Amino acid sequence: MTYPTPQTILAVDDNDAFRYSVVRRLRDAGFYVTEAATGAEALRLAREEPVLITLDINLPDIDGFEVCRRLKSDPVTREIPVLHLSASCIGSENKVRGLEGGADAYLTEPIDQQELVATVKALLRMREAQREARRQAQEAERARQELKTINQTLEARVQQRTSELQRHISEVQKLSSFLLQAQDEERRRISRELHDSTGQLLVALKLNVNQLKSEFANQNPEGQRILQDTEAVVEEMSRQLRTMSYLLHPPLLDEAGLVSALRWYVDGFASRSSLKVTLDVPGHMQRLPQALETTIFRLVQESLTNIHRHSESKTGSIRIVSNDNEVLVDVSDEGKGFSFDSEVEGRTSRPGVGILGMRERVHRFGGTLDIASGSSGTHVVARLPIHSVEGTAVKVF
Ligand SMILES: Nc1ncnc2c1ncn2[C@@H]1O[C@H](COP(=O)(O)OP(=O)(O)OP(=O)(O)O)[C@@H](O)[C@H]1O
Ligand SMILES: [Mg+2]
Repeated sequence: MTYPTPQTILAVDDNDAFRYSVVRRLRDAGFYVTEAATGAEALRLAREEPVLITLDINLPDIDGFEVCRRLKSDPVTREIPVLHLSASCIGSENKVRGLEGGADAYLTEPIDQQELVATVKALLRMREAQREARRQAQEAERARQELKTINQTLEARVQQRTSELQRHISEVQKLSSFLLQAQDEERRRISRELHDSTGQLLVALKLNVNQLKSEFANQNPEGQRILQDTEAVVEEMSRQLRTMSYLLHPPLLDEAGLVSALRWYVDGFASRSSLKVTLDVPGHMQRLPQALETTIFRLVQESLTNIHRHSESKTGSIRIVSNDNEVLVDVSDEGKGFSFDSEVEGRTSRPGVGILGMRERVHRFGGTLDIASGSSGTHVVARLPIHSVEGTAVKVF
């Protein structure tokens, strides 16, 4: 809002002489002054928004107290400071009434003209200070609202990003679960292929070598020696192929179940690695859903491989405990241990495909995988619910 220059003051008094002296003093002080001699005129001119009103009490139509009350209840005029000036209502009860009615100051006759101007200026300073305070409060409120809007926008964005992230995480989980399943199926397929196709060709080759051996018996010692060598090579190839095929997917796992497959695997592992491995499984362990048995077998396989590759332990032990609801698999060693958070023997370990894959497999069944590792060895403990919907529903052919 802009103020007229010079500032306008409305002087209200029905006594011409008294009003004239007030007007003159104010003009001398540099104000522009408009005048009213009645309450009605005062209310009309007040709507032109003077910066201050000097208001007599005894007016012919509406008394000064009522004029002030109306000014203070009108949103257009309520901020205009009102200074009562009275020659007749000079008692303190009148002053109290005037001030309680909303007036900002009250001066009585005899009015010192310097005091009048000083009071007017003080009231104008107060009005200015009030405006400034209100302006600052409005600015603070606007800033608060802006901040609130920014906060809400940010929150909405964070929520959107979080849900996008969650969607991506669940997609990645689905993908990795799918990949693990596909890996199992692929291993099974390659294992069969090696066994049924390449394996059969080697059998045919061996038969041929045998036939050649008997056809050339006692005829050509050098030829015989080469045929014997060839037979040995074919047998070794056959043996290696069978081991490879079984390691990819032990046929015992499907036919005789987890415990037999583990026994076979552990024996082979111990003889190939010089690790002393113990297997502690319940005497009559029930058969579990096929996908769950495959998962447990892969957990043991990965954990034993890790012990062999990383732990420097001379022993490894596998313990399996089960009840109607869950299976607990604990593969442990007495090696140097590891940590993903802090250094062990000058290096920090990082999870590879092995541990991440184990976690993923266990999560697929709604189970948990805990790894406790320290300087006296490592325990990899998986708890797998037996009747998990997904676990039994997973198709592994
Ligand atoms: N039993 C263990 N003893 C000591 N360190 C281990 C053991 N098991 C795992 N680690 C540490 O944890 C790391 C991660 O193991 P993880 O099986 O995930 O990956 P990796 O064995 O290095 O590679 P891969 O992806 O071929 O399995 C290992 O590199 C090793 O530092
Ligand atoms: Mg590994």
